[in-house]
Amino acid sequence: MNTHFQGKSLLKEIDYTPSELYTLIKLAEHLKYLKKHNIEHHYLQGKNIALLFAKTSTRTRSAFTVAATDLGAHPEFLGASDIQFGKKESLADTAKILGSMYDGIEYRGFDQDIVDGLAKYSGVPVWNGLTDDWHPTQMLADFMTIDEVFGHIKDITLTYLGDARNNVANSLLVTGAMLGVNVHLVGPKSLQPTQKVQDIAAGYAKESGAKLLITDDLKAGVQGSDVLYTDIWASMGEEDKWAERIKLLQPYQLNMAAVKATGNPNTIVMHDLPAYHDLNTKLAQNIHAKFGLSEMEITEEVFNAPFAKQFQEGENRMHSIKAILAASLGNLFIPALVDPE
Ligand code: CP
Ligand code: NVA
Repeated sequence: MNTHFQGKSLLKEIDYTPSELYTLIKLAEHLKYLKKHNIEHHYLQGKNIALLFAKTSTRTRSAFTVAATDLGAHPEFLGASDIQFGKKESLADTAKILGSMYDGIEYRGFDQDIVDGLAKYSGVPVWNGLTDDWHPTQMLADFMTIDEVFGHIKDITLTYLGDARNNVANSLLVTGAMLGVNVHLVGPKSLQPTQKVQDIAAGYAKESGAKLLITDDLKAGVQGSDVLYTDIWASMGEEDKWAERIKLLQPYQLNMAAVKATGNPNTIVMHDLPAYHDLNTKLAQNIHAKFGLSEMEITEEVFNAPFAKQFQEGENRMHSIKAILAASLGNLFIPALVDPE
């Protein structure tokens, strides 16, 4: 029995050590190999997993569902309007019941307190599938993708452009700092991470040697970057903020000029998705009608470029979520942790 992972929750990245996170990334790469070669990996036979979603999802929901099924477990989707929680039943009572029936719980929603409370009261591992503050399972897929493309993660420089204080930006800053990846967050001063998040990241960077930069200067931020990353300008729950965000964030669009400004011919582009790069969604059409924009955080040209890796990254959500499920519930023998390299 391994003592590092069994029974542990993933509520935010710092619940794990840097070596534990990198070991999960390596386990995800191994599980991807098994899946591609049709090698069975039923480490969670007979387990039941609850999937609670208070916000919508394509990737995270599908990744948990397929990963659990591939591992031999049964996933059960419990959408916000399907269950008593939030209207008729408290967090503590819900958690106690779910913990008595399920072996693990995924939660996606608004307050970090809810996912923390589920872990506290349920007594089973809880995995954060995105809150307003953090998106930890996204990080496993993102740094796994960087590891696959470059063959290592240490000393890579990742620059994030846009809303630099949302869940994805917070998580990139802290996880990069933990793993020895240089992270630049580039966005207007009013959309930069809180001092608390910056302090957490700075503490880890001192240990790992990662160089962190938070700036509103795009040219300085992107220079020399190996990875350019962006995310939606208004996250779930911020639908009333489009007008102000468009004004603030248009200069930070991930376009060909930003790619060229890296000065690095081997730069790749990443996006957690969904992305607003064309007019093929209702949201993009509404924005176009109201503000005249036909592309938002990433241009169509960059999104479709051969160096854009967002679909590899999206697929990796499944392999990496499978790693965290298997490691925390599967009694896997993991002989030694792998230090980030
Ligand atoms: N990246 C991500 O979390 O996608 P979904 O919202 O589709 O789950
Ligand atoms: N920042 C985005 C991420 C979506 C996967 C949001 O919270 O809506």
